[in-house]
Amino acid sequence: MRTAAPLDVIRVRRDFPIFDRAIRGKPLVYLDNANSTQKPRAVLDAERRFYETGYANIHRGVYLLSQEATEAYDRARARIAGFLGAKNPAEIVFVRGTTEGINLVASSWGRANLGPGDEVVISEMEHHSGIVPWQLACAATGAVLKVIPITDAGELDLDRAASLIGPRTKIVSLIHVSNALGTINPVAEVIALAKRHGVPVLLDGAQAISHGPIDVEALGCDFYAFSGHKLFGPTGVGVLWGRAALLEAMPPYQGGGNMIHTVTFEKTTYAPLPFKFEAGTVNIAGALGLHAAIDYVEGLSWDAIAAHERALLSRALDRLGAIPGVVFQGSPAHRAPVMSFTVDGIHPHDVGTVLDAEGIAIRAGHHCVQPLMARLGVPATIRASLSFYNTADDVEALASGVRKAIEVFRG
Ligand SMILES: Cc1ncc(COP(=O)(O)O)c(C=O)c1O
Repeated sequence: MRTAAPLDVIRVRRDFPIFDRAIRGKPLVYLDNANSTQKPRAVLDAERRFYETGYANIHRGVYLLSQEATEAYDRARARIAGFLGAKNPAEIVFVRGTTEGINLVASSWGRANLGPGDEVVISEMEHHSGIVPWQLACAATGAVLKVIPITDAGELDLDRAASLIGPRTKIVSLIHVSNALGTINPVAEVIALAKRHGVPVLLDGAQAISHGPIDVEALGCDFYAFSGHKLFGPTGVGVLWGRAALLEAMPPYQGGGNMIHTVTFEKTTYAPLPFKFEAGTVNIAGALGLHAAIDYVEGLSWDAIAAHERALLSRALDRLGAIPGVVFQGSPAHRAPVMSFTVDGIHPHDVGTVLDAEGIAIRAGHHCVQPLMARLGVPATIRASLSFYNTADDVEALASGVRKAIEVFRG
């Protein structure tokens, strides 16, 4: 077996201008990557280049700038299709992010396919954006939400999944990787269960997208949503991939310019895919930035990234686990480099404040997974989430920061 050359993290960090900045007089230790990721210069340059020398709206112009912008936007779509293993660029819909992608499916597919008594199956570890859009769809159609529970280890209970996915199930919507626990869900197994009943599966790829290659055809899912900003790209742009046959059959999500074929006061006909779902002026610069982000990350090696992140995760679990009073939430066997923990007797926000004074950025709170927090029996956790530009020093800084918080608050 060939092993990839190790990631040259010092060199990689030079691609990210933010690491030149001191935070509260200290080097930045950025461990909030599950929330959002930092941007390499290539992404900043792509957006800047577009606005400085190539800017025009797309699809509307007969002039050169508009034609160039349209071509660049189309290239971004094709690049993303390749990145996701999608067969057809028309299956790539640009949206604002994961949240909008899931809302699009829940609203449009939901309106067309759900009715009273139908069941939508989600899991207990969903992000709010994998819960609330389906609650809205259920309220509008009379469908019912069913929730696959998790085990104490923070893994999906597959036996319960097998009994919940049944003849009334109309769709399964599942988080690929948990943003709070790092659990990598057995999506192949869940997709197999859903296929037995002939129902589509939506995967929330917000967290999975930055840790390894995704191939939607190999996965066998039907919808896949992710956000550009969690993949080292800009905010305000994301992707919904859907199978063409499903997208074709769905009504538009929003109406407006660009998504129509003809409009009269009596009747409107819609543009073909993907434009039917891209009403109004889209985030052109965002799409180009996302294209640059994908080029950047694929210019590294996923194998090297995975090896680096695995080593950091194991160091972090080891160092934090050695601190008396640190309690990890969940211990999934397959996990992304994301850890949630609490410290006995100290509120997560207080730990976060001490860490911030050390220049360490983590997230303290409910991480948009209140039902999961309720299942874990905690109101909030401290979450440290790693990326390929983190170092062993970052992990050591986190562990000493947590020790310091304990000294400060326990005396
Ligand atoms: C698993 C998961 N799903 C959905 C989202 C929502 O992403 P966005 O806010 O970019 O739409 C997040 C963001 O934290 C997430 O972690």
